[in-house]
Amino acid sequence: MCGIVGYVGRAKAAPILLDGLRRLEYRGYDSAGLAVVNGRHELQTRKCAGRIAALAKLMVKKPVSGSFGVSHTRWATHGKVTNENAHPHFDASGKLALVHNGVIENYQTLREELISGGDTNFRSETDTEVLAHLIGKLYDESCATTVDTPQKKAHMLEAVRAALQRVIGTYGIALIHSDVPEFMIGARRGSPLVLGVGKGENFLASDVSAIVAYTRDAVYLNDFDVVAVDREKFEISSLAGETGDHQVSKVEFTAEDIKKGDYAHYMLKEIFEQPGTVRDAMRGRLSPEECTARLGGLNMTPPQLRDVGRIILTGCGTALHAGRVGEYLIEALANIPTEVEYASEFRHRNTPLTRETLVFTISQSGETADTLGALRESRRKGFRTLGICNNVASTIARESDGGVYMHAGPEIGVAATKSFTSQVVILTLIGLLFGRMRTLSTAEGSRIIESLEALPEQIETVLKLSDQIKEIAKKYADVTGMLFFGRQFNFPIALEGALKMKEITYLFAEGHPSAELKHGIIALIRPDLPSVFIAPDDGVFSKNLNNIEQVKARKGPVIALTSGNGASQLKTLANEIVTLPEAPDCVMPVLSVIPLQLLAYHLAVELRRDVDKPRNLAKSVTVE
Ligand code: F6R
Repeated sequence: MCGIVGYVGRAKAAPILLDGLRRLEYRGYDSAGLAVVNGRHELQTRKCAGRIAALAKLMVKKPVSGSFGVSHTRWATHGKVTNENAHPHFDASGKLALVHNGVIENYQTLREELISGGDTNFRSETDTEVLAHLIGKLYDESCATTVDTPQKKAHMLEAVRAALQRVIGTYGIALIHSDVPEFMIGARRGSPLVLGVGKGENFLASDVSAIVAYTRDAVYLNDFDVVAVDREKFEISSLAGETGDHQVSKVEFTAEDIKKGDYAHYMLKEIFEQPGTVRDAMRGRLSPEECTARLGGLNMTPPQLRDVGRIILTGCGTALHAGRVGEYLIEALANIPTEVEYASEFRHRNTPLTRETLVFTISQSGETADTLGALRESRRKGFRTLGICNNVASTIARESDGGVYMHAGPEIGVAATKSFTSQVVILTLIGLLFGRMRTLSTAEGSRIIESLEALPEQIETVLKLSDQIKEIAKKYADVTGMLFFGRQFNFPIALEGALKMKEITYLFAEGHPSAELKHGIIALIRPDLPSVFIAPDDGVFSKNLNNIEQVKARKGPVIALTSGNGASQLKTLANEIVTLPEAPDCVMPVLSVIPLQLLAYHLAVELRRDVDKPRNLAKSVTVE
């Protein structure tokens, strides 16, 4: 959510900043801007409402020069989407440029204080501008007579620290000042910031994918870190000014991994990556000899694992839906009472937790503000809290007591797809591990392992349905919305199918347990509102069949996903039948979600929606 890129080095800063912004555009895309200082100590700024392409166009008309600068792509929180509200923002002197992710909660108080001190030069409605003014004011006060550059740098650093100590809220920031050459400062609290370490050049970014084309050496900043960055060196200290050790890590992926290749959209690429990503989620974690899963990253001894008496799964959006599948899985395989909590609710409510409770946070990005809040709240209460994350360098991964990485590779499409199936596979592994320590026999464990191992090939089979689903999407392109229904393991898949549909087609969509139909939803049934039933040939197929009859009786079109003998029984009932490979109940969600990802995708393309950058959304929601 919002993207930051900063550069200081010998190369021209503007192309590097623009290139980084393009790679971060999925983080926010309502406006963009940059500021670069040239050899005459002039701060040149270009910013505009709209996409990065609009900024790039502006830069062709009005180029900038210089070898250090900061840039930003915005997802609006405070203030409308206008040129003025786009970042960077400036201090009262106009010499300091700052970009910011996060929310300054006490910005009104700070703004009033600055105004009563005589500062009337505010140009935007944003919280960010207030921070820029505060830092600028503190710097100008301390630096009035300083001419020496090292001293200016020291004063600038002090001003940043002093200002941030006054801030309530969250921030990832990068800033430059036209009087302080080849120098930038970054800081974080609650919003991610990474330092890219190059040769004779250094970078700041909110996400390493912005800079991985230039360097794979990175330092992931912690909350309350402030980093002073030159061309040749950097120094990380705390808000209080203490310096400490920081590790330079190698970024796991390369710039190649974040290319779209021949696919029309990242979302489609990521849907088609699922045979590989599901395989990677299980790689080295299956033990056919012991008929169980090996999850060393949980950092728990066998007695500790045996003592777990209750599990809470928490996350947001798609990750929460994966948790809902996990609830069915863990209860079915391990018989451990499991609950799913919205992270945004869990973090603020007083969920009674017993001594034997284990909490899992589920997050692709590992940076979602509410999920991070839930993790911190759970740990503050003294509960062991584990993460299921994709981004290994993320805050959630670093702050958890242990966990399981997805290894799904970067997910760029705003609508989550491959991360969902990896999360479900990992939750199956967790169910298997806990189950085998309780009631699950070797034969049952072995059957689950076989079904998991069969998944990548079965996903390949499901992906071959893409053309059929495209035809269905064309046929239903003028509907007013869609309803999704499923039972048991496939009820959360109905929720996820509806979420995908809403996000990228903007059509009305809802997911429900099939049986809820007759408790109210049936009032909605009409010919222009199709119902998608996830009805594999399982123990509840006949119940789903009843519900399908109820829809048909009211002239509602039915799109059915089924398996095995389901197709023959649905032949006269469903308008469309999509046949999935046969699989046991507990792994079916990994297969049944894929046609729904494809349905949303093809329908969005048919409706000419911007699939990878749907309106109002952004990847990785780092604000509350
Ligand atoms: C849906 C989607 C969001 C995310 C949610 C959590 O397609 O992308 O609902 O699933 O914002 O994000 P992570 O998993 O990064 O915590």
